[in-house]
Amino acid sequence: MNGEVPGEGGGSPGEQFWEEHYRASRRPSSGRPSGALVRFAGPLPGGTALDLGCAQGDDAVWLARRGWRVMAVDVSGTALARAATNAEAAGVSDLIEFERHDLASTFPDGRFDLVSALFLHSPVEFPRTQVLRAAARAVAPGGLLLIVEHASAAPWSWSDPDTAFPTPEESLAALDLDPSRWHDEFVGAPKREATGPNGQRATVTDNVIALRRLAR
Ligand SMILES: C[S@@+](CC[C@H](N)C(=O)[O-])C[C@H]1O[C@@H](n2cnc3c(N)ncnc32)[C@H](O)[C@@H]1O
Repeated sequence: MNGEVPGEGGGSPGEQFWEEHYRASRRPSSGRPSGALVRFAGPLPGGTALDLGCAQGDDAVWLARRGWRVMAVDVSGTALARAATNAEAAGVSDLIEFERHDLASTFPDGRFDLVSALFLHSPVEFPRTQVLRAAARAVAPGGLLLIVEHASAAPWSWSDPDTAFPTPEESLAALDLDPSRWHDEFVGAPKREATGPNGQRATVTDNVIALRRLAR
Protein backbone atom coordinates (compact mmCIF):
# COMPACT_ATOMS: atom_id res chain seq x y z
CA MET A 1 0.00 0.00 0.00
CA ASN A 2 2.35 2.74 -1.19
CA GLY A 3 1.61 6.38 -1.89
CA GLU A 4 -1.53 8.37 -1.19
CA VAL A 5 -4.93 6.72 -1.40
CA PRO A 6 -7.01 8.68 -3.89
CA GLY A 7 -10.74 9.21 -3.67
CA GLU A 8 -11.12 8.72 0.10
CA GLY A 9 -12.31 11.28 2.59
CA GLY A 10 -15.95 11.35 1.63
CA GLY A 11 -17.13 8.98 4.39
CA SER A 12 -18.02 9.52 8.02
CA PRO A 13 -17.21 12.78 9.82
CA GLY A 14 -14.31 10.96 11.50
CA GLU A 15 -12.88 9.81 8.19
CA GLN A 16 -13.33 13.24 6.67
CA PHE A 17 -11.62 14.98 9.59
CA TRP A 18 -8.62 12.63 9.73
CA GLU A 19 -8.18 12.40 5.97
CA GLU A 20 -8.06 16.19 5.81
CA HIS A 21 -5.68 16.26 8.77
CA TYR A 22 -3.17 13.89 7.16
CA ARG A 23 -3.50 15.30 3.67
CA ALA A 24 -2.91 18.82 4.98
CA SER A 25 0.23 17.78 6.86
CA ARG A 26 3.09 16.27 4.94
CA ARG A 27 5.29 16.37 8.01
CA PRO A 28 6.85 12.92 8.51
CA SER A 29 6.15 11.25 11.83
CA SER A 30 8.87 11.21 14.46
CA GLY A 31 9.83 7.62 13.70
CA ARG A 32 9.91 7.00 17.45
CA PRO A 33 7.56 4.72 19.39
CA SER A 34 5.43 5.91 22.28
CA GLY A 35 7.28 5.85 25.61
CA ALA A 36 4.47 3.87 27.24
CA LEU A 37 4.64 1.24 24.50
CA VAL A 38 8.39 0.87 25.03
CA ARG A 39 7.86 0.62 28.78
CA PHE A 40 5.08 -1.99 28.73
CA ALA A 41 5.66 -3.96 25.49
CA GLY A 42 9.47 -3.75 25.55
CA PRO A 43 9.84 -6.56 28.11
CA LEU A 44 7.31 -8.83 26.34
CA PRO A 45 8.43 -11.74 24.16
CA GLY A 46 6.36 -10.73 21.10
CA GLY A 47 3.29 -12.30 19.56
CA THR A 48 0.32 -10.71 17.84
CA ALA A 49 -0.52 -7.03 18.31
CA LEU A 50 -3.41 -4.77 17.36
CA ASP A 51 -2.62 -1.05 17.16
CA LEU A 52 -5.79 1.05 17.11
CA GLY A 53 -5.35 4.50 15.58
CA CYS A 54 -1.89 3.66 14.22
CA ALA A 55 -1.40 7.01 12.44
CA GLN A 56 1.78 6.89 10.33
CA GLY A 57 2.89 3.62 11.87
CA ASP A 58 5.73 4.49 14.27
CA ASP A 59 4.47 2.14 17.00
CA ALA A 60 3.55 -0.67 14.57
CA VAL A 61 7.00 -0.50 12.95
CA TRP A 62 8.70 -0.56 16.36
CA LEU A 63 6.70 -3.63 17.37
CA ALA A 64 7.38 -5.40 14.05
CA ARG A 65 11.10 -4.70 14.39
CA ARG A 66 10.90 -6.59 17.67
CA GLY A 67 9.25 -9.54 15.95
CA TRP A 68 5.58 -8.85 16.66
CA ARG A 69 3.00 -9.58 13.95
CA VAL A 70 0.94 -6.40 13.90
CA MET A 71 -2.52 -5.47 12.70
CA ALA A 72 -2.41 -1.68 12.32
CA VAL A 73 -5.73 0.13 12.03
CA ASP A 74 -6.68 3.70 11.26
CA VAL A 75 -9.64 5.55 9.77
CA SER A 76 -7.40 7.52 7.41
CA GLY A 77 -6.30 5.84 4.19
CA THR A 78 -3.63 8.49 3.79
CA ALA A 79 -2.16 7.72 7.23
CA LEU A 80 -2.23 4.00 6.44
CA ALA A 81 -0.52 4.50 3.10
CA ARG A 82 2.26 6.47 4.79
CA ALA A 83 2.51 3.83 7.53
CA ALA A 84 2.87 1.14 4.85
CA THR A 85 5.65 3.15 3.18
CA ASN A 86 7.40 3.50 6.55
CA ALA A 87 7.05 -0.24 7.19
CA GLU A 88 8.55 -1.00 3.81
CA ALA A 89 11.47 1.37 4.44
CA ALA A 90 12.05 -0.39 7.78
CA GLY A 91 11.97 -3.81 6.10
CA VAL A 92 9.03 -5.06 8.16
CA SER A 93 6.16 -4.99 5.64
CA ASP A 94 5.68 -8.73 5.91
CA LEU A 95 4.98 -8.40 9.65
CA ILE A 96 2.33 -5.65 9.49
CA GLU A 97 -1.15 -5.91 8.07
CA PHE A 98 -2.94 -2.60 7.58
CA GLU A 99 -6.72 -2.35 7.79
CA ARG A 100 -8.83 0.76 7.40
CA HIS A 101 -11.67 0.89 9.90
CA ASP A 102 -13.83 3.67 11.21
CA LEU A 103 -13.82 2.17 14.69
CA ALA A 104 -17.10 3.94 15.34
CA SER A 105 -18.73 1.33 13.11
CA THR A 106 -16.37 -1.60 12.41
CA PHE A 107 -13.68 -3.38 14.42
CA PRO A 108 -10.99 -5.82 13.22
CA ASP A 109 -11.53 -9.55 13.78
CA GLY A 110 -9.39 -11.66 16.04
CA ARG A 111 -7.73 -11.87 19.43
CA PHE A 112 -4.29 -10.40 20.07
CA ASP A 113 -1.53 -10.74 22.68
CA LEU A 114 -1.26 -6.95 22.80
CA VAL A 115 -3.96 -4.40 22.03
CA SER A 116 -2.86 -0.77 22.12
CA ALA A 117 -4.99 2.35 21.93
CA LEU A 118 -2.51 5.19 22.26
CA PHE A 119 -4.03 8.67 22.21
CA LEU A 120 -7.05 7.28 20.35
CA HIS A 121 -8.83 10.63 20.57
CA SER A 122 -10.85 12.49 18.00
CA PRO A 123 -12.32 15.99 17.98
CA VAL A 124 -15.32 14.70 16.02
CA GLU A 125 -17.99 12.51 17.55
CA PHE A 126 -16.42 9.17 18.47
CA PRO A 127 -17.82 6.45 20.79
CA ARG A 128 -14.46 6.10 22.48
CA THR A 129 -15.57 4.14 25.54
CA GLN A 130 -17.43 1.65 23.35
CA VAL A 131 -14.34 1.25 21.15
CA LEU A 132 -12.08 0.75 24.19
CA ARG A 133 -14.45 -1.94 25.50
CA ALA A 134 -14.18 -3.68 22.11
CA ALA A 135 -10.40 -3.32 22.43
CA ALA A 136 -10.54 -5.15 25.78
CA ARG A 137 -12.59 -7.96 24.22
CA ALA A 138 -9.91 -8.33 21.52
CA VAL A 139 -7.19 -9.16 24.09
CA ALA A 140 -6.29 -12.86 24.10
CA PRO A 141 -6.08 -14.67 27.45
CA GLY A 142 -2.75 -13.74 29.03
CA GLY A 143 -2.50 -10.67 26.76
CA LEU A 144 -2.04 -6.98 27.54
CA LEU A 145 -4.37 -4.03 26.97
CA LEU A 146 -2.49 -0.72 26.83
CA ILE A 147 -4.44 2.53 26.80
CA VAL A 148 -2.75 5.92 26.91
CA GLU A 149 -4.85 9.06 26.84
CA HIS A 150 -4.41 12.75 27.39
CA ALA A 151 -4.96 13.87 30.97
CA SER A 152 -4.00 17.50 30.36
CA ALA A 153 -4.26 19.85 27.41
CA ALA A 154 -0.94 20.74 25.81
CA PRO A 155 -0.74 24.38 24.67
CA TRP A 156 -0.97 23.21 21.03
CA SER A 157 -3.88 20.83 21.66
CA TRP A 158 -7.29 21.20 20.01
CA SER A 159 -8.85 20.59 23.47
CA ASP A 160 -10.44 23.44 25.31
CA PRO A 161 -7.90 24.48 28.00
CA ASP A 162 -10.74 24.14 30.56
CA THR A 163 -11.43 20.51 29.61
CA ALA A 164 -12.00 18.33 32.68
CA PHE A 165 -10.03 15.14 32.06
CA PRO A 166 -10.96 11.89 33.81
CA THR A 167 -8.60 10.34 36.31
CA PRO A 168 -7.04 7.04 35.21
CA GLU A 169 -9.27 5.27 37.75
CA GLU A 170 -12.37 6.87 36.17
CA SER A 171 -11.24 5.79 32.69
CA LEU A 172 -10.62 2.27 33.97
CA ALA A 173 -14.06 2.14 35.62
CA ALA A 174 -15.68 3.23 32.33
CA LEU A 175 -14.32 0.07 30.67
CA ASP A 176 -16.61 -1.92 32.98
CA LEU A 177 -14.26 -4.91 33.07
CA ASP A 178 -14.73 -7.93 35.31
CA PRO A 179 -11.97 -7.43 37.94
CA SER A 180 -11.68 -11.19 38.47
CA ARG A 181 -10.49 -11.54 34.85
CA TRP A 182 -8.00 -8.67 34.70
CA HIS A 183 -4.83 -7.71 36.55
CA ASP A 184 -3.94 -4.01 36.75
CA GLU A 185 -0.26 -3.82 35.78
CA PHE A 186 -0.29 -0.03 35.92
CA VAL A 187 -3.01 2.57 36.33
CA GLY A 188 -1.58 6.04 36.77
CA ALA A 189 -1.04 9.53 35.40
CA PRO A 190 2.65 10.15 34.75
CA LYS A 191 3.97 13.45 33.42
CA ARG A 192 6.25 13.69 30.42
CA GLU A 193 8.00 16.30 28.32
CA ALA A 194 6.13 16.58 25.02
CA THR A 195 7.05 18.25 21.73
CA GLY A 196 4.36 20.07 19.73
CA PRO A 197 3.94 20.21 15.97
CA ASN A 198 6.19 23.26 15.66
CA GLY A 199 8.82 22.03 18.06
CA GLN A 200 7.24 23.66 21.15
CA ARG A 201 7.97 21.94 24.46
CA ALA A 202 5.62 21.46 27.40
CA THR A 203 5.09 19.16 30.36
CA VAL A 204 1.90 17.14 29.89
CA THR A 205 0.10 14.45 31.85
CA ASP A 206 -1.15 11.18 30.37
CA ASN A 207 -3.44 8.54 31.80
CA VAL A 208 -1.73 5.19 31.34
CA ILE A 209 -3.72 2.00 31.81
CA ALA A 210 -1.96 -1.34 31.34
CA LEU A 211 -4.14 -4.37 32.09
CA ARG A 212 -3.39 -8.06 31.70
CA ARG A 213 -6.24 -10.40 30.84
CA LEU A 214 -5.87 -13.39 33.10
CA ALA A 215 -5.15 -16.60 31.25
CA ARG A 216 -7.92 -18.67 32.84
C1 LIG B 1 -4.31 11.65 18.14
S1 LIG B 1 -3.89 10.49 16.88
C2 LIG B 1 -2.85 9.34 17.76
C3 LIG B 1 -2.00 8.52 16.85
C4 LIG B 1 -1.01 7.53 17.49
N1 LIG B 1 -1.67 6.38 18.06
C5 LIG B 1 -0.13 8.17 18.52
O1 LIG B 1 -0.06 7.70 19.66
O2 LIG B 1 0.52 9.17 18.17
C6 LIG B 1 -5.40 9.58 16.71
C7 LIG B 1 -5.37 8.57 15.57
O3 LIG B 1 -6.58 7.84 15.62
C8 LIG B 1 -7.15 7.77 14.35
N2 LIG B 1 -8.61 7.75 14.50
C9 LIG B 1 -9.40 8.75 14.95
N3 LIG B 1 -10.70 8.41 14.89
C10 LIG B 1 -10.72 7.14 14.41
C11 LIG B 1 -11.77 6.23 14.12
N4 LIG B 1 -13.05 6.57 14.27
N5 LIG B 1 -11.45 5.00 13.64
C12 LIG B 1 -10.14 4.65 13.45
N6 LIG B 1 -9.11 5.48 13.71
C13 LIG B 1 -9.38 6.71 14.17
C14 LIG B 1 -6.69 9.04 13.63
O4 LIG B 1 -6.71 8.94 12.24
C15 LIG B 1 -5.29 9.21 14.19
O5 LIG B 1 -4.32 8.56 13.40
